[in-house]
Amino acid sequence: MCLADGDGFSEIFMDKWDIPGSFFKRSGDFFSPGNRNVSLKPHAGTENRTMKNRTLKNLLCTALLVTVFISTPCLAGHHGKETPSKKGILLVAFGTSMPEAQGAFANIEAQVRKSFPDVPVHWAYTSTIIRKKLAAQGKQLDSVEMALARMMDQGFTDVAVQSLHTILGEEYDDLEKTVSAFRHMSGGFHSLVLGNPLLTSQDDMDRVCRAVLENIPKERTSKDAVVLMGHGSPHPSNAFYAAMMFHLQRKDPNVFVGTVEGSPDIEDISAMLKEKNIKKAFLVPFMSVAGDHARNDMAGDEEDSWKSILTKAGVTCVPVLKGTAEYDNMAAIWIGHLKLAMDHLNPHMKH
Ligand code: CO
Repeated sequence: MCLADGDGFSEIFMDKWDIPGSFFKRSGDFFSPGNRNVSLKPHAGTENRTMKNRTLKNLLCTALLVTVFISTPCLAGHHGKETPSKKGILLVAFGTSMPEAQGAFANIEAQVRKSFPDVPVHWAYTSTIIRKKLAAQGKQLDSVEMALARMMDQGFTDVAVQSLHTILGEEYDDLEKTVSAFRHMSGGFHSLVLGNPLLTSQDDMDRVCRAVLENIPKERTSKDAVVLMGHGSPHPSNAFYAAMMFHLQRKDPNVFVGTVEGSPDIEDISAMLKEKNIKKAFLVPFMSVAGDHARNDMAGDEEDSWKSILTKAGVTCVPVLKGTAEYDNMAAIWIGHLKLAMDHLNPHMKH
């Protein structure tokens, strides 16, 4: 009963390791086999518990946990047979069909291999359209489901899945559901941990802001604007983009963040540039790869591209076609999240 309570369990680990709550609300599930809820929201009823009950419960949980750790030998499989552990990494991105944009993924993979030289790295693309496009060119890319099934079949026991998304949006939500389904599959992986996307906590936001400012082209003067293009989403996490702009502008008032499919949009940004009488803007993708959105919606010649809209408003545009994953300082933030996920793989805990 105690083990099935995700909250009590997470609290113990949180106290002990002092890990940001957002990570634990998701990975806490991993430590509690009975709890299938991997939602970010607090579990219903938690707030009604008295502190006294909670402390007693935590004590009982701790006692049980200590007993389990002391009495369990390092045997993982059924019938006391030792299962050799095999760790793996699965990198998950939306995907891109543009060969010019592949450099961003190649860079992040190189950084991951450098950080975890002995761990095999696999890839999955979440976009069905992109996978179909690539398949027509003879390139087979796995979905998350296919990649995890393949890894399971190949004998991987402990897998860290790293999201290469920018925000905790719809794509990430879907990924979380798939990972959760595989985590609860009987006879499946010993441990399966999902690493957070780029922007998950305030600490991430501070690091991303620093990296964005470091990556601004040298030829830009402080009078020129830097306009970042995020993807944008109807998901509540879309708020990260405006929050990013707030933090960036405290350091550099002429840095703006807009989105293709959410808010703030290019009309909002155009009005802000006009208000500040800005005459020149560097257009920079705020997506892992400089793919279709960057090349067409941002820098394309069509009349509804950001470049065309701003040029019409009297702003000279300088597009920078480089995705965030191409910058080592950005890649390092994703790799930090992967490292945390790797640290939580547990080859000796069988679910
Ligand atoms: Co899109």
